[in-house]
Amino acid sequence: MELAELKAKIAEIVQSALQESDSVSDLDLFNRWKARYLGRKSAFRDLFALLGQMSATDKPEAGHALNEARIQLENRAEALESLIKASAKPKAQKEFLDVTLPGRVPQLGRKHPLRQVAEEVIDVLAGMGFDVALGPDIETDYYNFEALNTPPHHPARDMQDTFYLEGGLLLRTQTSAVQIRYMEKHRPPIKIVAPGRVYRCDSDVTHSPMFTQIEGLLVDRRITFGDLKGVLEAFLRQLYTEDTPVRFRPSYFPFTEPSAEVDIGCQICHGSGCRVCSGTGWLEVLGSGMVHPQVLRNVNIDPEEYTGFAFGMGVERLAMLRFGIHDIRIFFENDMRVLEQF
Ligand code: PHE
Repeated sequence: MELAELKAKIAEIVQSALQESDSVSDLDLFNRWKARYLGRKSAFRDLFALLGQMSATDKPEAGHALNEARIQLENRAEALESLIKASAKPKAQKEFLDVTLPGRVPQLGRKHPLRQVAEEVIDVLAGMGFDVALGPDIETDYYNFEALNTPPHHPARDMQDTFYLEGGLLLRTQTSAVQIRYMEKHRPPIKIVAPGRVYRCDSDVTHSPMFTQIEGLLVDRRITFGDLKGVLEAFLRQLYTEDTPVRFRPSYFPFTEPSAEVDIGCQICHGSGCRVCSGTGWLEVLGSGMVHPQVLRNVNIDPEEYTGFAFGMGVERLAMLRFGIHDIRIFFENDMRVLEQF
């Protein structure tokens, strides 16, 4: 065979090998491609066999040309192989599925203990005919204090540790503000329950700067302190148990007169005295009283025609008593290990 002819054959083989290599996309195709062009039975090997028949003068150049071409194809093969392996590996890893691994259990949501207690309270009162009413967390001095018969100089303001905001606004310290907002817009008979967040600058194991209150208000003709007692007793006995002792102690709030704090028999020791009730056998759960005539006048309701009573309770306190929690802060830390227990 002539040298020129051999060189042309080499060029032809190299060209088609390189051309075909462009469509080699996986290991299987690669192995077949490699066998075809570099393998023992490849066209290329046949050319090597021809070398023996070449003339002595042409032999070195022919051998050189064949070697060059082989190196070119081997380089191509190496590059192709590493390219295929690099792209195949992550894919294989991605698709790998270990069926023996334990599954991931999705976390189930549940109601926060404060919401559980608030909903129970609201359910009982709604069952007695109270409508839910809401008001804003950011209040004016008027709704939070003035209209509730608590003028600026009033000593009761000291107890409330108010967060004052700019522009005469404040964070409401009590849901009693909702009483005024509701009575401005509605005429008696009025029968509402108003849950919401309230704020006081106070923080220790039983006080949080933000906490939750539920307010009740009932205004109609001929409402007496006897109605207050009857409704609150019935409410507390539904919330706790039918035989829970309830007692009323005289108290003071600027917007109710007379006022009473309400205790229930200690749910832990049943009256014999324990740490939770400080040995008294009683737990304070409510503030209450007959709506002060001035409060009614402030919303243009005639106190000669209408009377009413109001009451308020702290949801955190109820929940602490219910669940035996001694630190109010755990309600707001959102530690799943704690919340999962409710
Ligand atoms: N607003 C009072 C407080 O925060 C509770 C209360 C409400 C008392 C309604 C009487 C009537 O302490």
